[in-house]
Amino acid sequence: MSEPTLPEGVERRTFDGSDRLATRGEAVYGEPTDGEWRAWNPDRSKLGAMFELGMETGLRGDETVLYLGAASGTTVSHVADFAGPTYAVEFAARPARDLLDAAASRPRLFPLLADARKPATYAHVVEADVDAIVQDVATRGQARVALENRRFLADDGRLLLAVKARSEDVTRDPEDVFTDVETELDEGYEILERRRLEPYHADHLAVVARSR
Ligand SMILES: C[S@@+](CC[C@H](N)C(=O)[O-])C[C@H]1O[C@@H](n2cnc3c(N)ncnc32)[C@H](O)[C@@H]1O
Repeated sequence: MSEPTLPEGVERRTFDGSDRLATRGEAVYGEPTDGEWRAWNPDRSKLGAMFELGMETGLRGDETVLYLGAASGTTVSHVADFAGPTYAVEFAARPARDLLDAAASRPRLFPLLADARKPATYAHVVEADVDAIVQDVATRGQARVALENRRFLADDGRLLLAVKARSEDVTRDPEDVFTDVETELDEGYEILERRRLEPYHADHLAVVARSR
């Protein structure tokens, strides 16, 4: 596997004899810890898998991030460990409660109970020109969500998108689904890198893109 460019604040460290990605922060999902470091599990995180697979995310640390589909905070808690202000959008109340717990020890993590298909509902909170949008909504219309939220992205910012094929259509070949998603994304984004997330996540595509 190629060696990814990791952001400042993300390191490879040894936990129980194995080499793992890690960030510094309070544990959130029962992950192994070593002092102030916590292992980042790529099997539970598409962004973690993107780093493991050597994708060039453009993240260097300290960025302003808009995270769409935060769930209970597994991945966004790692992001908030190394990034700057991190706005975490989640529309389901139950995981959002756990997200609040993850945010309690992270002053730069701002949970927003909102629908990522309706960016106007949080546009007054999220600052303009974020450096990165990380999206993992696993719902139908994933390209549309990315396009709707493009308004927040700085001209030189990056979209880091995970697409789950089965969320679009369980019956179609995943590659056909991905082709359609990429064609739709093309309306507003230039795709810089695309890669499937096996062996960490089956039938998921990761895309790194910038605004057109
Ligand atoms: C695959 S899970 C996200 C896992 C999370 N990104 C992580 O790695 O920790 C997808 C999440 O997106 C949320 N979601 C789906 N559609 C959404 C929408 N339109 N607005 C906000 N959240 C949405 C779901 O409720 C679910 O919690």
